[in-house]
Order: sequence, then C-alpha cells, then structure tokens
Amino acid sequence: MTSMEKPELYRDLSRQLAALLGDETDLVANAANMAALIFHGLPDLSWAGFYFRAGPVLVLGPFQGKPACVRIPIGRGVCGTAAARGTTVLVPDVHEFPAHIACDAQSRSEMVVPMIADREVLGVLDLDSPLPDRFDEADRRGCEELVAIFLERRRESNVDMQRR
Ligand code: SME
Repeated sequence: MTSMEKPELYRDLSRQLAALLGDETDLVANAANMAALIFHGLPDLSWAGFYFRAGPVLVLGPFQGKPACVRIPIGRGVCGTAAARGTTVLVPDVHEFPAHIACDAQSRSEMVVPMIADREVLGVLDLDSPLPDRFDEADRRGCEELVAIFLERRRESNVDMQRR
C-alpha cells in the first residue's frame, strides 16, 4: 500500500468506526469492536488491541491476534513508553528497540497510540506487524483519529475507564 492510499483508507475506517460505535458507550464492547475493525481493516497486522491503565500498570484489554502479556508497567516496553510519554510511539524494527516486550516472536514493527482524556493516560491502542517498518505518519494520524472517535463515546458515558 502506498502512503497516498492510506489517508483514504483511514477516512473510510473512521466512518465505519463512528457507525459501528453509534450511541453505544460501553467501554469493553466498543474496544472489542474497534480492535476487530482495525485488525480486519488494515493490511499486514498480526495484533491489534488495547491496554488500559490501572494505577502504575497497563492491563490487557480487548484485542485480536495471539494471546498477549497481561500486565505492562508504565515506562516498560513500547506500550509503557507511549503511556509514559503521552505521545504515539512508532518502532520500525522491534529488535532495535531495547525496551520492547516480545509477546509474539513474529512481530517486527509496532505502533502504540496513547488514549488521553483530561490530561490523563487512560490506556493505549497497540498495533503489531510481521513486516519491518510497517507504520508511518499516515498510520499515526489515522490511528490517532480512530482513538479520538473512541474517546468521544467515553466522554458521553458515565463509565470510569479505570474502575472497569
Ligand atoms: N510489544 C509490546 C507488548 C504488547 S504486545 O505487542 C501485544 C510492548 O513492547 O509494549
């Protein structure tokens, strides 16, 4: 896929996600559907899913792909690094990211988007690929938009993500 095609793909995914979530505000249901939409909608992924923050750790949430590690301390791994920095982290080659936590030996590149509301990191969206250098700026922008759509539904609900 060329980077020219990606913005269009993400526009389409954003529309699909907004329709899929609709008025639903249940966190787990929305996260599960979003993980499935991304996993089946984006090419060359081996894993797509969520970790939610519970105090000093990230805990595994809904995902698609092989079973994954359950708890990741903030600051550890690609996920914990994105959560600590509060910014998206792109890792072109996981073998060259010393802090990387290998859940799946096939994973070669990774992108983690933090979910931030009211200046608090609520969790992260994690994407893994078996291809090196799979993720670029178009993926970052596209996935940050998908996370924004997901977080809008949460804002409308009374559910506190960290107490789920
Ligand atoms: N590789 C991640 C761990 C989670 S799995 O990829 C699903 C990390 O380094 O944080």
